[in-house]
Amino acid sequence: MNVTFRQLKVFEAVARQLSFTHAAQELHLSQPAVSMQIKQLEESAGLPLFEQLGKKVYLTEAGKEMYHYCRSIASQLEEAEEVLGQLKGIQRGHLDIAVASTANYFATRLLAAFAKQHEGVSFSLDVTNRESLLRQLEQNDKDLVIMGRPPENVNLEMEAFMENPLVVIASPEHPLVGKKVTLNRLQKESFVVREAGSGTRIAMERFFSEHGVRLQTGMEMTSNEAIKQAVDAGLGLGIVSIHTLALELELGRLVVLEVKEFPILRHWYVVHRKGKRLSPIATAFRQFVLSEATNILQSKNPL
Ligand code: PGA
Repeated sequence: MNVTFRQLKVFEAVARQLSFTHAAQELHLSQPAVSMQIKQLEESAGLPLFEQLGKKVYLTEAGKEMYHYCRSIASQLEEAEEVLGQLKGIQRGHLDIAVASTANYFATRLLAAFAKQHEGVSFSLDVTNRESLLRQLEQNDKDLVIMGRPPENVNLEMEAFMENPLVVIASPEHPLVGKKVTLNRLQKESFVVREAGSGTRIAMERFFSEHGVRLQTGMEMTSNEAIKQAVDAGLGLGIVSIHTLALELELGRLVVLEVKEFPILRHWYVVHRKGKRLSPIATAFRQFVLSEATNILQSKNPL
């Protein structure tokens, strides 16, 4: 059957309205133009599709069949249009994400792997601590956030995608290196810790208070880099995520102590506000993180 989309479109309008006049108005065509399209369609179908009794137009048996297929072709076309539209969004979109300072040690590698698959996509990446991420989520500022588990009472959609072990680090000269260390023994050491709004700090405090251990935590610093430098310089012990350590462990500048009950096991989550309509590119990135992060990052995890 030799049919054009234009004929099907005209046929659909006449069959739905059961009127050549109304179909012509809807499609901004003259009535003879509509009649011509239908005539050509009937010729290639080999059967009449309409019959006219008095002023009324009816679908013939063949017309009803044709109408059924015509509607399903139209809905398939709409679906194709939607999928192509989404693909365009994924190829060219902009992704605005924020990650916990500790997550930044792997977030850029995830973005790089994602960018290889979506070349036209641009990114903005904000790196900040947990407290400020929760504020951004509250204000619905970002497409997606990568952070430690957010509090339950906030209206958020969250999904875990990877473990985040926190470990105790020391300089290679520290007397506890190579020993099996108890939590009690740690009480005699000085610790360099993250600032109060940090997820690492909150997890660490919760862990030690659950175990009834009081650490000496006089030295506070606002970044993982500062903590590692301080520990390297011999200022004390530190507690950081294993994800921040790949380079220092490889170079032998820092050592992970073997402490009973350690590591503190946390997880990384990809998070957005409940009810937020994610853009096609944000949906694709979220899916990418959930399914690929562990594979992409595993080779670099020093644990
Ligand atoms: P932060 O990140 O310690 O850099 O705030 C970790 C987290 O959100 O748990």
